[in-house]
Amino acid sequence: MRVLVTGGAGYIGSVVTEGLVNDGHHVVVYDNLSKGHRKSVHADAEFVEADLHDASTLRNTFRKHQIDSVIHMAASSLVGESCTNPAKYYDNNVVAGLKLLDAMIESNVKRIVFSSTAATYGNPETQPIDESAPNQPTNPYGETKLAFERAMRWYDEAFELRYVALRYFNAAGATEKCGEDHDPETHVIPIALQVAAGERQHVDIFGDDYPTPDGTCIRDYIHVVDLAQAHILAIGSLDNGSRIYNLGCGGDGYSVKQVIDTVREVTGREILTKIAPRRAGDPPTLIASSDRIKRELNWQPKYQDLGVIVKSAWRWKQANPNGYRDWPQI
Ligand code: UFG
Repeated sequence: MRVLVTGGAGYIGSVVTEGLVNDGHHVVVYDNLSKGHRKSVHADAEFVEADLHDASTLRNTFRKHQIDSVIHMAASSLVGESCTNPAKYYDNNVVAGLKLLDAMIESNVKRIVFSSTAATYGNPETQPIDESAPNQPTNPYGETKLAFERAMRWYDEAFELRYVALRYFNAAGATEKCGEDHDPETHVIPIALQVAAGERQHVDIFGDDYPTPDGTCIRDYIHVVDLAQAHILAIGSLDNGSRIYNLGCGGDGYSVKQVIDTVREVTGREILTKIAPRRAGDPPTLIASSDRIKRELNWQPKYQDLGVIVKSAWRWKQANPNGYRDWPQI
């Protein structure tokens, strides 16, 4: 396939690109580098530095590279930030996304895999969450991802656009080459690893009075390699029609305190914590049922143990103490 990966220089995008290239696909990464790293893009992928709002570059890219499928990962993706700056999320996640869909239809490209999120469900009453759970996002991040999913549905009705929306739970871990390098970092595992590495004094635990066994939020952590594999299966299944899949490991999930304990075990370092106020928009528990994608696409997560996931992230951090900054310029 000839695949355009928007956001392919980001944390998850770079791993998806690596997987597609290794499987022999022709990959064009389209990224404005507002968050991503040019150096994280696989050397055998083409790279276009541009914004999704730029309709003419989009159209030219589709034509020049004869793209037949899209994996749309470019987005703003921080729950907390979305609560304080909703306009940014509507603009990047909805308005820019519609530009992409229109350029696709104009270019007769009608196959898309979309990075969606568990944040579309909000604060569901039952766990694990399957795809039939009601969509009641509690923050603009989830709301705008849901809005784009719904737009794709109407493009399917109008133009026979075929989509698979993958609702990720909490991506974590690293490959040998690619890892998590955000500035500023907001995710709990890399923050705890920064404490382990002596780059930060402590981890703030955002709330210990949630209705969970230890009072801290429970999440379902999925290895980024397993996530990438799901994209590759999804893109190969687009001709079977449009679908939505959850992507997590299921089980009981891990609380913030359990995550920090795991980081202590893996790194052998002391991790100081401080109890801080709750963060806006955080649901107490999010655990996926991924039965549908397992059944229909035969997807199986390989790395379900949080220790294994954290170990891969720690290995990457030790090999790349300054993230991508020390990598040679391209
Ligand atoms: N947390 C802390 N301290 C920190 C950072 C995070 O206690 O310094 C807590 C959060 O409050 C949350 C948990 O750790 O309870 C996980 O937080 P992350 O920021 O690592 O991840 P999120 O669950 O907020 O976000 C992830 C994805 C989003 C997705 C969301 C679904 O990054 O894209 O899951 O809620 F929308």
